[in-house]
Amino acid sequence: MALDSNFLWGGAVAANQCEGAYREDGKGLSVADVLTAGDAHTKRRLTDGILEGEYYPSHIAIDFYHRYKEDIRLFAEMGFKCFRTSIAWSRIFPEGDEASPNPAGIRFYHNLFDECHKYGIEPVVTISHYEMPYGLVKKYGAWRDRRLVDLFERYCRVIFTEYKGKVKYWMTFNEINAIEFGPWNPAGLDIRPEENRTQVIYQAAHHQFVASAKAVLLGHEIDPENQIGCMTLFGVVYPETCHPLDAKAADDMMSTMLAFADVQARGEYPARLLNKLERAGVQITKAPGDDTLLRRGTVDYIGFSYYMSMVQAGRPTEAGTAQGNVVAGVKNPYLPSSEWGWQVDPMGLRLTMRLLYERYQKPLFIVENGLGAVDTVEPDGSINDDYRIDYLREHIKAFKAAVEEDGIPLMGYTPWGCIDLVSAGTGEMKKRYGFIYVDRDNAGNGTLERRRKKSFDWYKKVIATNGEDL
Ligand code: BG6
Repeated sequence: MALDSNFLWGGAVAANQCEGAYREDGKGLSVADVLTAGDAHTKRRLTDGILEGEYYPSHIAIDFYHRYKEDIRLFAEMGFKCFRTSIAWSRIFPEGDEASPNPAGIRFYHNLFDECHKYGIEPVVTISHYEMPYGLVKKYGAWRDRRLVDLFERYCRVIFTEYKGKVKYWMTFNEINAIEFGPWNPAGLDIRPEENRTQVIYQAAHHQFVASAKAVLLGHEIDPENQIGCMTLFGVVYPETCHPLDAKAADDMMSTMLAFADVQARGEYPARLLNKLERAGVQITKAPGDDTLLRRGTVDYIGFSYYMSMVQAGRPTEAGTAQGNVVAGVKNPYLPSSEWGWQVDPMGLRLTMRLLYERYQKPLFIVENGLGAVDTVEPDGSINDDYRIDYLREHIKAFKAAVEEDGIPLMGYTPWGCIDLVSAGTGEMKKRYGFIYVDRDNAGNGTLERRRKKSFDWYKKVIATNGEDL
């Protein structure tokens, strides 16, 4: 089985990391708008509202809000078949709980999706990508509160209805399982010291599971053409050695990470998670009918991000730590690392795909993958990002082998940050993923001018040959 001729080659971004225009046309504050910039060694800080004298990279980001036409033209030049972005909930419902939506926000996404279709680019839309109205945090405590399920449904009804016929591929929550490891971005949870962290996280996750299932049902009802996926953060986890305790630790980590897609794809909580929660004294409050909803509202495909594999040890280890986008692990001595300590493992992508497909038997969609690196603009203006080309080439080879040799159905590939954008983890601009360079630095200086990198022409050739010429 070769790559389908309709294979969705493209790229991915998220509203809060590229749009900017954070208060324009009626947009409300989002959870991303109160995160300061950090770097590889300094954590981003969460402030109580917007504070004078702080720098918040999402406020202008790369100004995609005003420059999307130019950017989509560049995506079209590369031959994109699809473009993954997200809708900022806070543009549609600025505070999150208004009775009616903000017309200017709705109009922006009509224009954006129309612009994509002008070039035959299919939008792939994440409904909630590390972005929810800050008003919902202040008023309801974010996803702690069951009422969020209805507010999310109201938001989904508006966007499914408005963009019917323009958007067919959706995903409900970006990296829903990241809530386990860092609950602010995915669920607006700033957990207080007196709270039981696990209790708060899993109750909020339950609300998101129900909201996701309702969105799937509603999306299918409004337009049976809709294909609605989950979006899970996943990379295969290796044991540090063949010692059974290491093997168990690796398996435990995979089970924790996959439990979220288990609920969304199979329609019920896995027994191991239920037992783990019970042992931790966590009690999930469910409304009558929730279990039925979860069973009925299972997703159509498995969207996932893959940046790296991980290693876990079940015994004391001296191997050192490897960083990750959300989860850290033990350092793998066989793999190179990025400048941010993320380990590069193309074979891990193939193993990840085998595991996900054999577990869920639903089509896969690689909706994030890529290398965050420092790029240098040469005196002649060129940017020779061969390291990025190498990373992507090897990962494309790996997923092609998974499709062609292992027979795994794969819908598409949207490498992360196809145009440079604000890093979610560190808030930096310096950590670049794009085929398109954006002139902006960590402190917000720069002209925002766009420039093609060497990888731009390379990816164009890859798409034109449907992945044959790498
Ligand atoms: C994923 C997120 O975790 O990784 C993206 O879905 C994020 O929003 C991406 O940007 C890369 O991580 P980072 O920290 O390098 O931006």
